Amino acid sequence: MLKQFSTAFLLLFLISCSQQPKNVSQELKSPNQKNKITFELIDGKPFYGVSHSDITVLSPSKLGFVFKNNDSLSSNFEVIKIDTTSFNETWEPVWGEKNQIRNNYNQLSVLLQEKSESKRNLEVQFRAFDDGIALRYIYPEQGKDSIFIMDELTQFNLKDDGDAWWIGAYQDNRYEYLTTKSPVSTLDTVHTPLTIKSKSGLSLSFHEANLKDFASMTLERTNGTSLKSNLVPWADGDKVKTNGSFTTPWRTLQIADKPADLITSALILNLNDPNKIEDTSWIKPHKYLGIWWGMHIGKYSFWESPIQGATTKHAFEYIDYCKKFGIDHLLIEGWNKGWTPAWYENAMHQFSFTQEADNFDLKKVTDYAKENGVSIIGYHETGSNIINYLAQIDEGMALYEKVGIHDVKIGQVGSRLNMKEWHHGQFGVNYYRAVLENAVKYHLTVNFHEPIKDTGERRTYPNMMAREGARGQEYNAWSDGNPPSHTATLPFTRLLAGPMDFTPGVLDVEIKQGYEGRDVHTTAAKQLALYVVFYAPIQMLADLPENYDGNPAFKFLQDVPVDWQDTKVLNAEIAEYITTVRKDKHSEDWYLGSLTNEESRSFDIDLSFLDANTTYEAQIYADEVGTTWNTNATKVAITTKEVKSTDTLKLNLGEGGGTAIRFKKL
Ligand code: NOJ
Repeated sequence: MLKQFSTAFLLLFLISCSQQPKNVSQELKSPNQKNKITFELIDGKPFYGVSHSDITVLSPSKLGFVFKNNDSLSSNFEVIKIDTTSFNETWEPVWGEKNQIRNNYNQLSVLLQEKSESKRNLEVQFRAFDDGIALRYIYPEQGKDSIFIMDELTQFNLKDDGDAWWIGAYQDNRYEYLTTKSPVSTLDTVHTPLTIKSKSGLSLSFHEANLKDFASMTLERTNGTSLKSNLVPWADGDKVKTNGSFTTPWRTLQIADKPADLITSALILNLNDPNKIEDTSWIKPHKYLGIWWGMHIGKYSFWESPIQGATTKHAFEYIDYCKKFGIDHLLIEGWNKGWTPAWYENAMHQFSFTQEADNFDLKKVTDYAKENGVSIIGYHETGSNIINYLAQIDEGMALYEKVGIHDVKIGQVGSRLNMKEWHHGQFGVNYYRAVLENAVKYHLTVNFHEPIKDTGERRTYPNMMAREGARGQEYNAWSDGNPPSHTATLPFTRLLAGPMDFTPGVLDVEIKQGYEGRDVHTTAAKQLALYVVFYAPIQMLADLPENYDGNPAFKFLQDVPVDWQDTKVLNAEIAEYITTVRKDKHSEDWYLGSLTNEESRSFDIDLSFLDANTTYEAQIYADEVGTTWNTNATKVAITTKEVKSTDTLKLNLGEGGGTAIRFKKL
């Protein structure tokens, strides 16, 4: 597939004939010619810049590293080789938002060599896609068996200021904060994805792809609108420990003319390695109930007590509900020994991953589940005591495989792993990857809570289903909660990284059985819309089953798929509103989810995305007239209507509301 261009040879010839300082300039354009990367070597220093059509996005920005002992690898270079290649393929994900993904880019690879005696090489690879750009470094093995990276110097010198939606880095609750909006020129150090609406009019998102054996990258503003890579350190201050060579993750910048196009970009996935799991028959996208919300709202406890959630009795009741509702997966948390009322405090908790809690019989529960066509989802809460978990991981995972469990949720509550390391430093990155690879051995899919951020691992390991990595629904159960704008922000920020286990579907939005004054801050119809707007191959039906039983709106949650053949975003404004449509992978039906922040809105939806010459029954779940997130929020108006692709449909969303529609082919 890789095709060499010949311009590189001409350029090298010109470089070697010249007596003057060997400055180099080389351009790389995306297949549609719109995104352009310019690499320059000026007086021995490498720079790159980025433009989109005639808009400069990044002014010349530095490249390089500082290793231990102030050993800088960023200047005094010459270019010894340049290769330009192109790539174009279409691949099929095991599950996802679309059944086919096009990976089309041009690549420029620049091999630099220091002119000093050490003559160290550093390769910089650039890729230009139609939906953005990426770069990474490759430092080959060259005579040392350990190298410690103390700083990565990569700059992202934004030409224009703009509004940024961000979460601050280096905080104890990892990524679980509300997003703040402020000008780029006022940022401190932030996590990625960092989403920006530039004054140039472009929508931008900085992130990284294929993060492995490296520290995760946060972005630090150095001055004005200049950002710089800031690698999350180990406890001892090293940023990355290597055994003499390294390849960095891709540093990515998605570039779109409108926010909706950030959401449908597959750039992050395209920069990950293809699927490594040959037999994927055990990987099943699914919806699931859980012995879970009850614990978060205080109806049940995680630990052994008179209100213990995970008992054999409750498990049987929930399995019966699954069967009745036609939902084939059930998560059970707190089934094992180690839970105490203070389980979430920072401490080296000693959870067991094999011993059952009193009142819980794993064999009985899994047997009863099997008899009723239900799969149990296992749970491993590590409490961030990674030493304890890794000592038991094989036994714990083998036990699940033995009792027929194929899915495990794995939690890392705690502000540091082993009370020492950041979740997103190299230690954490390697830990999460090792757990994921271990899960493959036991045919287990993984749902990480308190995870490392998603950088597209699902392409390589399609058992990496979803993860948390943001404030999920649970915050509504036991804190002031997430404001209505939160769910209108996540699609443009956290969800650009990959699927989230947000745990939507709380239809009793006032949480009647919960703590005084708690509320989910959306209408019930908006909870339904989340299943279409927030993509994930596993979606929880988070509410108590008794709140679903007999509730007509629950029909949408029974119907809505989790695996799609196509996805389109019809309208979108960051943190304000979004309307997404997706086509079921296993039928001809389309689904629509539309949601808004604190403002009510009306949309005229052009139905031309529907298949032509086909009649559908639109089953519409909307906010009742007068319904807002804090007035009659549970009221869902359910209506049906025959529609065709030539029609337009009016949607009315209340404040903090939404609409969900199934277009059932007639
Ligand atoms: C936090 C997780 O996000 C939640 O889903 C889980 O129930 C608790 N930790 C307990 O481990």
